[in-house]
Amino acid sequence: MILEKIKKKKILPLDQYIDFCLYKFKQSYYQKKNKFGYGGDFVTSPHVSSIFSEMIAIWIVLFWNKIKKPKTLNILELGPGDGTMGKDIISSLGKINFFKSNVNYYFLEKSKSLKKIQKKNLKNEKNIYWIDNLKEFKKKDNLIILGNEFFDALPVKQFSKRGDSWFEKYVFFNKKKQLSFIFKKAKLDSIRKIEKIYNLKINKFIEYPLILEKLINNISDLLKNKNSIFLTIDYGEESRICNDTVQAIYKNKKSNILQNVGESDITYQVNFFHLIKLFKKNKLHLVEFTTQSNFLQKLGIKERAANAKKNLKKNQQLLLDGALKRLLHPLEMGSLFKVLIISNQYNTDFKYDI
Ligand SMILES: C[S@@+](CC[C@H](N)C(=O)[O-])C[C@H]1O[C@@H](n2cnc3c(N)ncnc32)[C@H](O)[C@@H]1O
Repeated sequence: MILEKIKKKKILPLDQYIDFCLYKFKQSYYQKKNKFGYGGDFVTSPHVSSIFSEMIAIWIVLFWNKIKKPKTLNILELGPGDGTMGKDIISSLGKINFFKSNVNYYFLEKSKSLKKIQKKNLKNEKNIYWIDNLKEFKKKDNLIILGNEFFDALPVKQFSKRGDSWFEKYVFFNKKKQLSFIFKKAKLDSIRKIEKIYNLKINKFIEYPLILEKLINNISDLLKNKNSIFLTIDYGEESRICNDTVQAIYKNKKSNILQNVGESDITYQVNFFHLIKLFKKNKLHLVEFTTQSNFLQKLGIKERAANAKKNLKKNQQLLLDGALKRLLHPLEMGSLFKVLIISNQYNTDFKYDI
């Protein structure tokens, strides 16, 4: 069915093709059954172990202390997947009396079917809300905006320079009736957009999500209120140079993005250099940019795990050791995943080392 839609369009820019594959139709990847967790297609950090979300909850408590314990706290999570991280954060915070009734937790989710799954998984929680878009979200003080693997799931455009001209990547059906790529001269409009963010003198290839700038502007707007902060965890690098990082994962293995349409997850590696640049353009401060491993260790994940193990059986202890390795090891999620913290009010003076 997605293939039929592509045929009808004849030719699609890469980001629209990815949108068709992941979001646009009932048959698109994120609109179908639950893909998350062990046994699903891929395992994100919140599914590796609840200790991940527990650490985020500790970070939230430290921020709440920093802003002098206001009477209400608002949390907005972007792209919650199946809702595991939100559920575990709410449960961890709930161990402290204040957080049982004074926290409002908001979710922003694009996929209808994931929204249903989130509502089911969180049906017993109080003070939780789903919002339709950032623009209409009423500005609030004491707002923490969170995301885990939110940016890396956005559909991207790609541009390549040949000679002095820029070309955009498209997807179309070739004469053999197979999906294939083709580059077409880029529209001037697109070039104007990318040159605002990327240095076209040093780059011969550009990859970016069309909605990125709008998203960052909307997030930045929300951060202008008092006591607000943004934390995102995504896989990617910080570099002035853009690379082709789009990949598809089908049944836990890398695959060709033109195959298994609607059946594979398509992601790219977030370019944090440009993400940070967009926030700075909006006069926001960089609080921290670090690896997932460093962030979690500063919050005391190893000490927390050692403590938790005292009450666990041997096999559960081994599982926790395995989860820690997966979250922290540089060759697993520890280094490739980065943590970016941005604020209007605070810069590096918000320390959260335990
Ligand atoms: C890779 S998943 C990560 C899910 C979850 N945060 C986790 O760590 O397991 C990306 C999530 O972002 C959502 N998403 C993608 N684009 C979005 C958008 N523009 N607005 C809201 N949600 C979006 C997807 O539907 C999905 O829930």
